[in-house]
Amino acid sequence: MIVRLDEKQLSQKNIASTDSEDGVVEDLATMDTQSLWHAMVQHKPFAQQPPKCMVKASGCMVTDSQGVEYFDGVSGLWCVNVGYGRQELAEVAYEQMLNLAYSPLTMSHEPGIRLAHKLTELLGYEGKVFFSTSGSEANETAFKIARQYHAQTAPVGAGSRYKFISRYRGYHGTTMGALSATAQAERKSKYGPLVPGFLHVSPPYAYRFDDGQPEAAYTASLLRELEMTICYEGADSIAGIIVEPVISGGGVIVPPDGYLQGVREICDRTGILLIFDEVVNGFGRTGKMFGHQHWGVEPDIITFAKGLTSGYMPLSATVVKQHIFAAFLDEPGTDSHFRHISTYGGTPVGTAVGLRNIEIIERENLVDRAAEMGEYLQGKLQPLLDHPNVGDVRGKGLLLGIELVEDKVSKTPLNDAAVVSLVKHCIEQQVMIGRNTNTIPGFTNVLIICPPLVITRPEADRLANTLYQAVSALTTR
Ligand SMILES: Cc1ncc(COP(=O)(O)O)c(C=O)c1O
Repeated sequence: MIVRLDEKQLSQKNIASTDSEDGVVEDLATMDTQSLWHAMVQHKPFAQQPPKCMVKASGCMVTDSQGVEYFDGVSGLWCVNVGYGRQELAEVAYEQMLNLAYSPLTMSHEPGIRLAHKLTELLGYEGKVFFSTSGSEANETAFKIARQYHAQTAPVGAGSRYKFISRYRGYHGTTMGALSATAQAERKSKYGPLVPGFLHVSPPYAYRFDDGQPEAAYTASLLRELEMTICYEGADSIAGIIVEPVISGGGVIVPPDGYLQGVREICDRTGILLIFDEVVNGFGRTGKMFGHQHWGVEPDIITFAKGLTSGYMPLSATVVKQHIFAAFLDEPGTDSHFRHISTYGGTPVGTAVGLRNIEIIERENLVDRAAEMGEYLQGKLQPLLDHPNVGDVRGKGLLLGIELVEDKVSKTPLNDAAVVSLVKHCIEQQVMIGRNTNTIPGFTNVLIICPPLVITRPEADRLANTLYQAVSALTTR
């Protein structure tokens, strides 16, 4: 049932509205409450205060139905790398829709070919690209590829490699396999039983767990834990290790130098495939085109989504090195091919948009810009450390985290109500920031700053000032 209100009722309710074709003003807020199930939030408060209804955006700014403009410090969901309102992305989608709106990748099409080629060119190695529609799906694809690869290359008599190792705090998606790899208790609660065979080890989280050791000793202890987990489980039962180079949603956790190199070395020695989840890290976010390039370590399989199209189209990719693909290659009639398909994975429109999105990133040097603006913003945020509730300011490029604590000695995570009040303070100043909600029980205390890569210095100043005021207000509220 569509509820229609007249102008007077609408102005009294102060809610989102739109003119329908017949001139009747529709009450979008009521329709929203009636029909739309929103992600990650409790809905009861919506009866009094409907969620903000966004209507347009440009650059880093998003405008709601009341005409209020917000600075988007989270790039939507960490995805709008090139910023909003890119006309050329709309045009390329429009033209591609008219030309060839759809064609499955059981056959081929030019934008798909060109984007796949571009991705391997950017990665700098030979490989094959399998397209899907979301980060979760890209990771599911990686898991299936890894298991099938081992099944087809295992020496006669070897056990089956089916297990995957990921790190606590890491998020790898929402579908059952990707959720099983996700090592965040609150995201998994009530959805079990999950997929068997997913194991977790400690993240490289120096701020909390280095116990004052030098970096090299802490790194060695993490690698020892990983190695012993593999040993206790039996290396020949483990198909892959999946890691984000920089943990994003789990609290912006940057590994120490030597860590990813060590993981690579363990994988090489044990025959385990190394999977990098670059769903957030990829496409300039961390100040390099890909996050792993900070440490010069290559994966066997890599997954992309979000920044691949800057959120303008649903598209993701799983890229394998050529030696992985070789295990799938045979004559028709055999069964070693990858028996996996995604109807909307790699559509002509999605891939055309992805290709143009990368063109924009390159043309406008957005990777260098992310590095430069990230450094600038991190510098601006450093004074926050003088506040008793700010334990750590960290990150790479334009993927930044601020860890809030009750006090700097105990490092007890700041209580949820205070973190919520801080985020609310920023919204009141028309600045949207993120935080790690529903991740680790009692540890929802990391603010996440992840603006579009086109952020300007004045915008970075505004973001930093707002955060400074919001943090200062913690002691006065
Ligand atoms: C690191 C990481 N991997 C995978 C995903 C899942 O991506 P999607 O929501 O597109 O399925 C996300 C989503 O936030 C993510 O942050």
